[in-house]
This record gives sequence, structure tokens and C-alpha cells, in this order.
Amino acid sequence: MIKIHSTLRKSNLKNKRVFVRADLNTNQTIKAFSKNDFRLKNIVPTLNLILKKGGTIILCSHYGRPMNQEPELSTQHLIPWFKEQGFTIGFAATPEDIQVLSEQEKYSIIMLENIRFFAGEEACDLSFAKRLAACADYYVNDAFGSCHRKSASLTVLPTLFTKENRSIGLLVENELRHLNPLLTHQKHPFVVMIGGIKGATKIPLLHDLLPKLDTLLITTPLCFTFFAAMGKKTGKSYTENNMLSAAKKLLIEAKKQNVTIFFPDDFQVTEASFETPKKIHLASQLGPKDVGISIGPDTTDRWKQKLLEAKTIFINGLPGNPQYVETLESTRILLHALQRISGTTVIGGGDSISLVNQLGCDDVGYLSTGGGATLAYLSGQVLFALTFFED
Ligand code: 3PG
Repeated sequence: MIKIHSTLRKSNLKNKRVFVRADLNTNQTIKAFSKNDFRLKNIVPTLNLILKKGGTIILCSHYGRPMNQEPELSTQHLIPWFKEQGFTIGFAATPEDIQVLSEQEKYSIIMLENIRFFAGEEACDLSFAKRLAACADYYVNDAFGSCHRKSASLTVLPTLFTKENRSIGLLVENELRHLNPLLTHQKHPFVVMIGGIKGATKIPLLHDLLPKLDTLLITTPLCFTFFAAMGKKTGKSYTENNMLSAAKKLLIEAKKQNVTIFFPDDFQVTEASFETPKKIHLASQLGPKDVGISIGPDTTDRWKQKLLEAKTIFINGLPGNPQYVETLESTRILLHALQRISGTTVIGGGDSISLVNQLGCDDVGYLSTGGGATLAYLSGQVLFALTFFED
């Protein structure tokens, strides 16, 4: 468990250039992010604090997993959102542009281009980190959603600032405050519902979480990777074929550790295009063209009961697709069940939170900006990006 506090409140930031590594990523196209602005809203308190203390901000985030410098993944698309909140914000395509804009003193925030557009970021390249460090006097990590990753801006850059000149932000501090009790005082039954994509991150982490768990509900589309591993029908549903042996290993380990895993028995499916009418099919009846988008009514009923019996719940991945309202009935039923439970619920991950917001169920529990990061933290992994800030 990491117990750290933000030292931002005590730091002298007057006339300092503060580099804020944020996580403004969603799995949606960047132009649709305004429907999913949970992570953006959550960074605002840190920005306001720095500005109030007389600092200027260099705001940095990744967006998506760019292969090249795809224009649709440019962080330029986020600028109108910050302008709407009343910030004076400029855009820098490179770290060197930040220097030029800083000298003009026109902006209180300078947004750097998608940090993953630079090869040095994912390569954890020291010389790239030095280019970033040259733009700033103070470093803030407020990218909780990325703290399970290693990259130049997350795990090299903080080493280039002295302890007095680096801190976690208010968002990270708040996440740890809410998640730490779950690491120390878990009440049972502990039920985890997991779904979505990124099985490569989630399956190994679930493995580590097993000793703490009683029940695991694996929903769409992640369940199809497990179906493929078990030789069951998947139709044309999304599967991660490089994760089949990891999925098999998890099933074996869960059995050994007496963790019950539930998969959907019925699905809401569509044929190839999400626009076509949706049908309910039993898992055993999935046709070759069927794409499972949500769970069916029988599964929803059973899973609702599991959630109602739980004392601790963590959700990273809900059934349904936020872009198609007709796929959200099961999601709504499960979230309404969560509103009735007295235990602790944590929901994490951009897409899950976007569904929670869309369905007006923000009171279901603690909403975490981290998906994989929250899962990693709860499964006991050390979030390396936070180790530089320990007291
Ligand atoms: C997330 O949304 O989980 C974080 O932003 C990390 O993104 P990544 O899985 O592409 O590293």
C-alpha cells in the first residue's frame, strides 16, 4: 500500500513552470471525448491549485495507442474543453515549442502534443525525458490511470527533479485515499466484475487478485477470450487470441483457489454491424456471425443477485456499448442493484465511468479514474510511477 500526500499545497510555485503529467485518455475517439470527460474534470482541482499559487502549467497526457502521429489522436482536440472551463490554454507540438510559448507569457496552461507521438516516451528514453525536464521547474504526477505503466514522462522524468520539486497531484492523492481502505479492510464476499478490452493487461492482474476474491464475473467482450480458450463458440465477437493460454491459466488457478468464475449464459448479440437489430442468444447458440455486445436477461438476473450479496465490489468493465442505448438495459439493472447495496463499491476505468454517468448512476460508489491502474493497485502491484513520491 502506498501512503503518500501531495506536497503541492505547501510548495512555493510562484512563477514556476509546473509540468503536470495527466491521464486524459479514453478509449473513444478523441472527438467524442466530451461525452466521457470524467478524467478531464478530475484534473481541474490540481490545475486550479497550481494557478492559484502563481505557477504556469505544462499539461501532458497520452491519448490512445498511436502507431504514427495520427491527427485524430492529437491532444489539440482537448483544447476547446479547457477553454470552455475558462482556462487560457495554448498548444505546443514539441517540448521546444513549450519554451517558445512560455516566453510569450500568453497562456496559463500549455498543452503538449500527445506524449505517445514521441518515440522516446514508451522507450523510457532519458534524453527525451531531459528535453521535457528543460521546460519545467516542478513535476506533478496526476495521471493515476497510467501509474501501472512505465514511460519517460511517468518514470524517468520525476527522477530529474529534486524531492522538493516533485509531487503527486490532488487526483492521485484522492484515488489513494479511497483505494487504500480496500487493500486493508476488505469485507467478504468480494466480487469483481471485469470486462471490456485490454485483456493483456487485465488477465495477469486478475491472477494476482485471486487470493483476495470470492467471485469473478467476466462480462463482454473479455469473456470471449475465455470462451475461445475453452473452445466455446464466440461468433465474431472480440477475442484476444494472444491471451488464450493466460486465460486458461487463470481458470485453473481460480479453481485451485476456490474462486468462482461466472461467465454469461446468454447474450445480447448483433450480426457484424452494431446498427442492426439486437437479439438475445444463449451462449451455446451463438451463430458464426454473432457479435456479443451485452449480457442477456438471465445472466443479468443472476449477476444482480451476486452483486446484492457482496460486501466489497470492484468493477472494471460493464456490459453494453455506450454508443448504443439499446445495449444498456442490463447495465442499467446492474447499476441500480449497486445503488441498493450497503458494502463498498469501486468502479474504475474510462468506459465504465462513462456508462455510469450516461445512465445517471453516479451515486453507485467510488468512481476511480483508473481502470488497469486501479486493478493493478488492488491486486497488490507496486505502482512504480508513484514510488518517487513516498514520504
Ligand atoms: C487507460 O486508459 O487504462 C490508461 O490511460 C492507460 O492506457 P494504456 O492501456 O493505453 O497504457
